[in-house]
Amino acid sequence: MKEWYDAIQEAQSVERLEEIRISVFGKKGVLAAEFVKMKKAPNEEKATIAKELNTHKANLMSEFTVRKIVLQTQELQKAMQAEAIDVSLFSTSSQAGALHPVMETMDRIVEYFSSMNFAVKTGQIVEDDFNNFEALNLPKYHPARDMQDTFYFKDEMLLRTHTSPVQIRTMMNTKPPIRMIAPGAVFRRDYDLTHTPMFHQIEGLVVDEAGKVSFANLKFILEDFLKYMFGDVKVRFRPSFFPFTEPSAEVDISCVFCEGEGCRVCSKTGWLEVLGCGIVDPNVFEAVKYKDVSGYAFGLGVERFAMLIHHIGDLRSLFEGDIKLLEQFQ
Ligand code: PHE
Repeated sequence: MKEWYDAIQEAQSVERLEEIRISVFGKKGVLAAEFVKMKKAPNEEKATIAKELNTHKANLMSEFTVRKIVLQTQELQKAMQAEAIDVSLFSTSSQAGALHPVMETMDRIVEYFSSMNFAVKTGQIVEDDFNNFEALNLPKYHPARDMQDTFYFKDEMLLRTHTSPVQIRTMMNTKPPIRMIAPGAVFRRDYDLTHTPMFHQIEGLVVDEAGKVSFANLKFILEDFLKYMFGDVKVRFRPSFFPFTEPSAEVDISCVFCEGEGCRVCSKTGWLEVLGCGIVDPNVFEAVKYKDVSGYAFGLGVERFAMLIHHIGDLRSLFEGDIKLLEQFQ
């Protein structure tokens, strides 16, 4: 038996120890064989042999257990040393981060309007029905609510579908004149090549005494803004409808991909729609209790601008966090 005590002590790996365990304690192992031999011994010796064997069994088992713990600990430490990382080392391949194209575009837009003396206001993402719809001339059950598929919570709360509620809240808290933009995330139940459930908008609002704010002012600022963003493009205003503005217009620029020739991106029209705008509807001013004022408003999708500036084909790729795509914007 002594040789097995030695073998356990000398084992240098958990693997070797396991071989020993099988040889000693296994069904065909040394101990089992000894017990079989014992059966052939004279009866009066059996008890002594059995006692001896059981003592060996217990002692070998405890030596085995202790040795196993020692070896396991050693092996774990070796593995940890081999995989150790020196976190204090400087990497030679350090990579600089960069702003996400959507944020970069947003910053550029905000920069333009700040330089034109627009204040930047942010509101809240979870809005109530009054600020998101009602005050914007979108009464309950009005079919125009269909234009903005909405995520609703209980108690008439919802994820804002545009940043227009920021303008309502600002008008409720401040006296005119107002000159502001509202950048931020908005949410709609939509998902395809050109729509994601979350995207970013920037809306603008200018309010002053009656007769002071005209469509000509709106046209001037938007034309100037679009040239700042896209360079030498043509700009056109098309009559449209929004519940909160009257008259309303959509604004197109000449296609930045084909320069107006007509291509797949502009559906062969030569024009790309980039903005909604109009003269603030009197019902909106009534809802915020403004009297004898005039104003204009506009709204745009930041992702759409980023796509047109960087020639990105699928809006969804902006939200996948794909390093390969993002690396190109450093
Ligand atoms: N709130 C509008 C939208 O999200 C955009 C808009 C704002 C249009 C202001 C006109 C005037 O669709």
